[in-house]
Amino acid sequence: MKIGVLGSGDVAKSLARGFLAHGHEPMLGTRDRAKLEGWVAQNSGAAVGSVADAARFGELLVLAVKGSVAADALRAAGIPNLTGKAIIDTTNPIADAPPTNGVLKFFTNLDESLMERLQRTAPDVRFVKAFNSVGHACMVDPEFAGGRPTMFICGNDENAKLLVTGILAEFGWDTEDLGAAEAARAIEPLCILWCIPGFLRNDWRHALKVLR
Ligand SMILES: NC(=O)c1ccc[n+]([C@@H]2O[C@H](COP(=O)([O-])OP(=O)(O)OC[C@H]3O[C@@H](n4cnc5c(N)ncnc54)[C@H](OP(=O)(O)O)[C@@H]3O)[C@@H](O)[C@H]2O)c1
Repeated sequence: MKIGVLGSGDVAKSLARGFLAHGHEPMLGTRDRAKLEGWVAQNSGAAVGSVADAARFGELLVLAVKGSVAADALRAAGIPNLTGKAIIDTTNPIADAPPTNGVLKFFTNLDESLMERLQRTAPDVRFVKAFNSVGHACMVDPEFAGGRPTMFICGNDENAKLLVTGILAEFGWDTEDLGAAEAARAIEPLCILWCIPGFLRNDWRHALKVLR
């Protein structure tokens, strides 16, 4: 598939490498193409353009920008370029304030997630929350002694979630679909949980798993 990745940071680059490795065609979208010149040279098959270019290019999109500017990035992409498309929303609403004892601060609350705000910004876009509850280095083909980890997803469109579930299976994940967009109120804070061992003990290689 043609994948438009809105972003240029660690998540955008890790997922784009994963899409390349799994036979897809990624284009990263950024305000500053120069900063990806070296990366593109090392990742042949990946393209770089503006955020709007990536939005137009992708049959499936990935939103991988700083949470506080996620709505701005959607507007920069051009809402008409996004309409009807599925977007994997990797963002977390992390506040600029530093963590307390390894616990990140969010600018949202437990009754309103960032993805719900984005869904209101772009009502005709099919958002699927995914990849927000694990570090970028573990997103593609994760290898853990405990087996396949679980990715928690949610979103209002069943077909979009099926599409993302297929990508997650390719990337080595079991998927736990937690329902509609409101479930992002629970899934986004998993980022806080996932980061605590990192901040406290420099342990950044782990993932979550549901046992039944
Ligand atoms: N890092 C991880 O391991 C990880 C794991 C899971 C989820 N996440 C979440 O995934 C998202 C991406 O994380 P990241 O670490 O890859 O990158 P990041 O440092 O959080 O964000 C970098 C991206 O944000 C964009 N950006 C920053 N300020 C902007 C502004 N004022 N207007 C428009 N765009 C702006 C940049 O765009 P330009 O290219 O135009 O500069 C760049 O693409 C975040 O929401 C993060 O919470 C991160």
